[in-house]
Formats: sequence, structure tokens, C-alpha cells
Amino acid sequence: MHTLDTLIDLPLEELKSMAAKTCAEHFDAKVYLRALLEISNRCSKNCAYCGINASNTKVPRYKMEVSEIVECVKKAFNEGYRTFVLQSGEGAYSDSDIARIIESIKQITGEQAALTLSLGVRPLDVYRLWKEAGANRYLLRFETSNQKIFRLVKQGHEPEERLRALEDLKSLGYETGTGFLIGLPEESEEDFYNNLKLTLSLKPHMTGIGPFIPHPETALGSCEAGNFSLVMRATAILRILRPDINIPASTASSTLAKEGRVALFGCGANVVMPNVTPARYRNAYELYPGKVSTDMRNDFDRIKRSIHAAGKVISFERGDSPAHTSELHHHVSKGGK
Ligand code: 5AD
Repeated sequence: MHTLDTLIDLPLEELKSMAAKTCAEHFDAKVYLRALLEISNRCSKNCAYCGINASNTKVPRYKMEVSEIVECVKKAFNEGYRTFVLQSGEGAYSDSDIARIIESIKQITGEQAALTLSLGVRPLDVYRLWKEAGANRYLLRFETSNQKIFRLVKQGHEPEERLRALEDLKSLGYETGTGFLIGLPEESEEDFYNNLKLTLSLKPHMTGIGPFIPHPETALGSCEAGNFSLVMRATAILRILRPDINIPASTASSTLAKEGRVALFGCGANVVMPNVTPARYRNAYELYPGKVSTDMRNDFDRIKRSIHAAGKVISFERGDSPAHTSELHHHVSKGGK
């Protein structure tokens, strides 16, 4: 039996071959596509790593209209996508507007497609409102397990509220994703280990890991970027220990490393998120500089090539997390809760 402790010091090549084998056993050669829609870059938070934080006055702000969002989803649905991810800065929309957007999208796609939200920390009641409106999944990275670094970079926010939000999401039945940044300033090897440990203990259904990339208009602008080989190690270790969760090859990885996504498919990543945000907004959603998905009208061609280069095939299936599906069955067979 592998554990974090038996894997943590293994050479990358060994981790890769184990992870690739595990991934193939559970997902064949499939890579699931998620259409990513960056609906607004307005944000009330001041995360020190993030290029769209509230204090960056240089970035032009945008907020897509409800009708525009629905149109984009309709188009992507017709192109074959069966998962939509809505992401924005925090507080860009009212809670009831988001509920309205969710309902409109669900009217178009029904249960044929899954709807994922990535809108930050909200109270339980709001998560419930959105779930009842039809949302299926939620992404909320804990970013770092180091509480001191968390408080420094999240400026005024507490790690506990984020962890509570993750518990709330799971308790409401969301397919829940979390994860962390690799290489925030001051992070040690021990932090890397603890980030993996916390990810495992949260029992997520999906997990996203990406390298920190310094943005010049932030307080961390002159810090070093995260190390890509650690992104590969983390991806492979999580795949080996959690065969049945979805793991994306993050956009930040392919921004930092040439063919970064190809490398991550080789480490057990089975998901990728083509950007379907209208071209005119793309440059303004600059979480970090050089984001690869902004320099092309359609991110899809590049992604398609990387999937093939890794010897994988594109899947337009809804691609629910097997970890979540089996939890649901377990629930039903025990008579629910
Ligand atoms: N570099 C890499 N990733 C970043 N994110 C935000 N800013 C950066 C950055 N400078 C990531 C965070 C967040 C996700 C949406 O984007 O981890 O959860």
C-alpha cells in the first residue's frame, strides 16, 4: 500500500510511471474537457499573489451580462462541451444574480451537462441557494496549508473560513474540488508535504494544483515562480493515492513550462479546461502574466495537440468524479442521510 510517506521521496520517473498506470486503469486514455468561462474580473479581495486583486488599478474591469453568459454557454454546449465552469473574482455578482445565471444555464443544458462554480468563499445558505438552483460542482483551492503564509497572502482572511466553506460544500452534496499553489514565497519542503497531506485529508472529488507565477502588479511581483517539477510530483502523488478523483492539468502549468500540460497528462492528470471566455475579455482576466489561454482566440487547438502529444484522447463526456459518484451510491445504499 502506498502512502504519502512512502511516495514523497521517490524519483519523479517512478512516480510518473505509477501515476500513468493508475490513471489509465480508471479513465482509459480519456481527458475530460471543461469549458471555462471567466465571467468577471471584479474582485473585493486582496490576495497578494493574484493579478486581479482589488488593489490592482491597472487592470480594466469587466462584468459579463447574464444574457451574454448564457449565450456563451449555449455556444459551447452546441460545440459539445458537457461541463461549464463559471469563475470570477469575489463579490462581482449578487448571490441572487448567480442563482439566476445557474437556473438559465440549467434550462439550456438540463442534466446533460454539469455546472461548476468557482466564485470563492460564501456562507452555507448561499451555497445551498446555488445548489438548489442547479449547480453541481464547486472549486475552491485552500491555496496553502501554512497558516502563517495564508494570513500574509490572503490579507485579512482566515484559513479556517476557507476550510469550513469546503466542508459546507461537501455537506450540501457538491462535487467538490480543492488544491493549492506550488511555491508561494517562503514555502518550504515541509509545506509542500503538508499541502499534499491537507489535500488528502479533505477527501476532495477533484483537485487542482498549479505553480505560483508572480504578477508584476502585486506585492509578490518580484518573487520567484513555483518549480514545475514539484507540480509534476504533486500531480503524480495525488493520482497514485486517489485513483478516482479528477485532476486537471492547470493552465498555469502550461504557462510556466513549455508543454506543461503534456507533462501533466503523463503524471495522471485527466482533465483540462479550455477557455471559452469571449476574446475581448481574455487579457483582463490576468491572474498571472503570460497566461497561455489568452493569446489565442481559441485555446482548444493547442489543448487538442497537447492531449494527442500525450497519447490521450479527448472526451466530451460530462465526466463526473468517480469519487463523488461512489459516495452517492454509498449514501443511497445506506438509506441516505
Ligand atoms: N499564479 C498562479 N496561480 C494563481 N492563481 C491566482 N493567482 C495566481 C498566480 N499569480 C490561482 C489560485 C486560484 C485560481 C483560480 O488561480 O490558486 O485558486
